[in-house]
Amino acid sequence: MDLLKILEEVVHPALGEKNIVELGMVESAGEVDGKVVVVLAFTKKPDPLKEYLVGATKAALIRNLPEGTEVEVNTVVKAPARKMEKLELDLEQLSCVRHIIGVASGKGGVGKSTVAVNLAIALARAGYKVGLADADVYGPSVPLMTGTEGEVPDAVNEDGKDLIIPIEKYGVKWMSVGYFAKRGQALIWRGPMACSALKQMILQVKWGDLDFLLVDMPPGTGDIHISLVQEIPMEGAVIVTTPQAVALSDVEKGVDMFRNKNINRKIYGIIENMAWFTPEAHPDEKYFLFGKGGGAAMAEHFGLPLLAQIPLVQSICESGDSGEPAALSSRPDALAFLSLASALASAV
Ligand SMILES: Nc1ncnc2c1ncn2[C@@H]1O[C@H](COP(=O)(O)OP(=O)(O)O)[C@@H](O)[C@H]1O
Ligand SMILES: [Mg+2]
Repeated sequence: MDLLKILEEVVHPALGEKNIVELGMVESAGEVDGKVVVVLAFTKKPDPLKEYLVGATKAALIRNLPEGTEVEVNTVVKAPARKMEKLELDLEQLSCVRHIIGVASGKGGVGKSTVAVNLAIALARAGYKVGLADADVYGPSVPLMTGTEGEVPDAVNEDGKDLIIPIEKYGVKWMSVGYFAKRGQALIWRGPMACSALKQMILQVKWGDLDFLLVDMPPGTGDIHISLVQEIPMEGAVIVTTPQAVALSDVEKGVDMFRNKNINRKIYGIIENMAWFTPEAHPDEKYFLFGKGGGAAMAEHFGLPLLAQIPLVQSICESGDSGEPAALSSRPDALAFLSLASALASAV
């Protein structure tokens, strides 16, 4: 005897032609001590149709069950189900974010994440409220670079929406898909799969009040980038490159991505990373390993300002690996990021 099948005969007169099973009103149905007990859930306390539905349910059971079966129908009042399954990603969490800026590069390995993390810290040191979303779902490096690996962001539910609380360290709010790589996936991936993890890392985060939200874009210039730039209200971007001439065509793609007429976002300028090599022991020396003036020539070629030149120094690399970014220090390499921060802030 299929109780649910029987209960499907009971139609709620006020709610279209829907029955109590599809309306989710059947809290439980089963046999208790030889008696068939059904519990109906109502969302409103004084439901005018309560008596009717209890009676109709009883009648349906008596009609369909073997004669003499004892039947009991009880009711409970329950708060309306929260819309957990319907995770709507909207721009609400970005409403108090003043400037959303992408940190992009034509290809990987040019130091995009290093620049993004240090720029975020430098902006925070300059007194701005800063967040950074690591949108590099393929190789999230923010947790390692900021020494926040292994931390798991908290979640809160606000007005039926699940939100992620960013990790705060060094005065910056960090969010990365890397925090969910091993555990807690259910939390993040719940909801329509159409919402990519990427957008969740930006739209489902309780950023609060921010002056700058930097987005560490995934390397490359594919479809995912276009859709990211289109759907997130990014004001503009900075492009990270190295001085080699071979990087020119990659930068071209990066620039096109934002200047493309369907997208049409500002590019604040080019950041030349690894502009020269400076040995730790000789901070005044510059060795132009990849040629001199590449960044400036590139900037001129695209009609963009050269926002900063970041030297190749061992400490930048080491501090990235140890989770204490260079921009925190008072060494000369920190200065490069601090001046980048002020150049960007005034460009914006
Ligand atoms: N200016 C720099 N000086 C020294 N090492 C750097 C510098 N910029 C980046 N690196 C190192 O280069 C590697 C790649 O940088 P990363 O920021 O991860 O690049 P991307 O995000 O573009 O793939 C990292 O090991 C990083 O520490
Ligand atoms: Mg990276």
